[in-house]
Amino acid sequence: NPPKKGKHFLHLDDFSKEELMDILEKAKLCKAKFYTRDESFKPFAGQTMAMIFTKPSARTRVSFETGFSRLGGHALYLDPNTIQLGKREPTKDIARVLAGYNDVIMARLFAHADILELAQYSSVPVINGLTDYNHPCQILADAMTLLERKGRIEGTKVVYVGDGNNIVHSWMRLAMRLSFEFVCVCPPGYEPCPSTVEGARAAGANISVTSDINAVKGADVIYTDVWASMGQKESIDTRKIDFASYQVNEQLMALAGPQALFMHCLPAERGLETTDGVMEAPYSVVFQEAENRMHAQNGILLHCLEATKRV
Ligand code: CP
Ligand code: NVA
Repeated sequence: NPPKKGKHFLHLDDFSKEELMDILEKAKLCKAKFYTRDESFKPFAGQTMAMIFTKPSARTRVSFETGFSRLGGHALYLDPNTIQLGKREPTKDIARVLAGYNDVIMARLFAHADILELAQYSSVPVINGLTDYNHPCQILADAMTLLERKGRIEGTKVVYVGDGNNIVHSWMRLAMRLSFEFVCVCPPGYEPCPSTVEGARAAGANISVTSDINAVKGADVIYTDVWASMGQKESIDTRKIDFASYQVNEQLMALAGPQALFMHCLPAERGLETTDGVMEAPYSVVFQEAENRMHAQNGILLHCLEATKRV
């Protein structure tokens, strides 16, 4: 069900290319206002955002909370023990309770079905701050970073090396709307969700999945993420063996070529999926990505809350 006013932000391909570009334009505006310390820019004045977390977070929690408050709004951090979504009371009840008090709900959850249920029962926009399935806010911030660094998203080649996880699903769903090449390089058995791959290809996305590390050659971006996501940490010992030849290190970056930027959503485990040398190299844009989370999310909120008419 759509909210009474505005839109949910659950998957990148829920938006047209024009809408995604509008969000990126708004993100750029928010960043410019931030850098010039424009104190008159308060589009969220008088609005509140409930933020439900069932998992840990540094970037998502801080960037949403500070971003919304800098633009005049008030954000509530609801930690994993407060609401206990689905345990203390059903998700569909919480959706209606929080929608009764707030202008928007942001949630970081385990099961993707839970955020879909939250959205189904919420009369205000629901923003996906990561599920086991996807992480659209992150990939929009990464697209903003790519645009800033390379001047374009379309026509680029983005190669992800590592686990075929939530980050990969969001890149694939972005490739359904913007024309760039996306390659997922992963060890056998760690491929992304097959129906997402097939669905993205059917929608015209230029994507491939391979176990061949040579696919990094000529990439504009080499991207990696932790080998064990939140909820999978007990499998790290097996994963360390399975992913051993998929580390994004200096040799892999050299194979990609001098044009390649390094991206990571963070938090990173130096010595596992990447190295300290790559993280700290001039081609690493990991902290620009992290910073852009705040601006990208303010762009998303402006778009989804239809708040621009208040600017
Ligand atoms: N990249 C990201 O979402 O970071 P957090 O888990 O710290 O929010
Ligand atoms: N794939 C990681 C991303 C963290 C931002 C996880 O889900 O834990």
